[in-house]
Amino acid sequence: MQGKLLFKARNSLNRLSLPLKFFVDIAKIGGEGKPPEGARGLSKKGEARYVGGAVRFIDLSRGYARYGSEIEEAVLRVLRSTRYILGPEVAALEEELARFVGVRYAVGVSSGTDALYLLLRALSLPEGSRVILPSFTFVATAEVVRRAGLVPYFVDIDPQTFNLSVEAVAEALRRLGPKVSAVLAVSLFGTPADFTRLEPLCEDQGVVLLEDACQSLGAELNQRRSGSFGRGAATSFFPAKPLGAAGDGGMIFTNEAEIAQRVRAMRVHGQTRPYFYEYPGINGRLDELQAAILRVRLRYFEEELRLREEVAQRYLQGLSDLPGVRPPQLPPGVRSSWAQFTVRVREREALKAFLAQKGIPTAVYYPLPLHLQPVFRDLGFKEGSLPETEKAAREVLSLPMHPYLGAEEQAYLIGLIREFYR
Ligand SMILES: Cc1ncc(COP(=O)(O)O)c(C=O)c1O
Repeated sequence: MQGKLLFKARNSLNRLSLPLKFFVDIAKIGGEGKPPEGARGLSKKGEARYVGGAVRFIDLSRGYARYGSEIEEAVLRVLRSTRYILGPEVAALEEELARFVGVRYAVGVSSGTDALYLLLRALSLPEGSRVILPSFTFVATAEVVRRAGLVPYFVDIDPQTFNLSVEAVAEALRRLGPKVSAVLAVSLFGTPADFTRLEPLCEDQGVVLLEDACQSLGAELNQRRSGSFGRGAATSFFPAKPLGAAGDGGMIFTNEAEIAQRVRAMRVHGQTRPYFYEYPGINGRLDELQAAILRVRLRYFEEELRLREEVAQRYLQGLSDLPGVRPPQLPPGVRSSWAQFTVRVREREALKAFLAQKGIPTAVYYPLPLHLQPVFRDLGFKEGSLPETEKAAREVLSLPMHPYLGAEEQAYLIGLIREFYR
């Protein structure tokens, strides 16, 4: 069923001729057909052996093989109820995820992008004020700042975590002073940004701190969940995310009743009672089918997070002694959601091509940082403006990562990387 949904999505995307990212991501997600040959990994004699075949970058079909029948039941329940928009499933998911993240309020919306946008709008930040954010992130983080009438101000990253450098944020706050209204920190690849230092810094400077938690639902920093930092956070349920739906979806998290109430109104055109519009809004609702699917997946989420940690651990063990590879290093107190397993490598293009030729898909997140993208050229950044960001863009490579990546498949692909650097 999910295979069909993705097939349909792919067809309609073709018709719409959307940007390459969508084709690339959706193609990599997989999700159609039977489990790949390589998943079996047992020879006739019963010894563990990788037998080749498709290793997917993200493999949704294996999760679906586990709990697909529960998802199908949930979908049928919603279809038969004929309650499709903002009904009991969305309300229940909001309650369950607010509890999971450890905040008072969660509001389901149509995508991670809309979650970020509505969060920014709900705060009524002064028009034209600056929002400090990383350039090493998915385009949506900066795109929504603009859409909300604010001006993105890119700063450099910490080379160890790929997240905002707190020193660079402090320096930008000193330089720009009252022009800055907010800091939008991204918890990239599933590792929470340095909120231990960002929270007091932003409080001290009187600027709003927000988290783009689109890749990091389930991650923790000092026992606090991603989504609970700053004044509000946004996450994404895009199918490839750690908690993914069968389509688009997103959610905002906050402890502030007013922010939650505004986002609730703004996701339905700013309506606060029937046909009475208090805020400028959008059609930004999460639908019942996606919420019902997410509630099933949430029941397996803790276990899938643990499985992702095991996959990451196997990568770390297999790659840490290689001179050509620098694996990620988590700061103390961090539990990553491992949305991506991203290493820095020497001779990236050659390694990528070598792995592709052996049937191993990899991805580069992100090849061209946002401050060098044509759409943000007018902001005045140039090559050399953010050296750590630009260096990361040249060196990063994300390896296949999903909870059901088998030890044999991993041993095979780690072996290939070792062979490449021999
Ligand atoms: C860091 C980041 N921000 C924002 C988004 C946007 O989320 P969505 O694709 O659900 O709109 C994504 C997801 O691709 C993301 O990775």
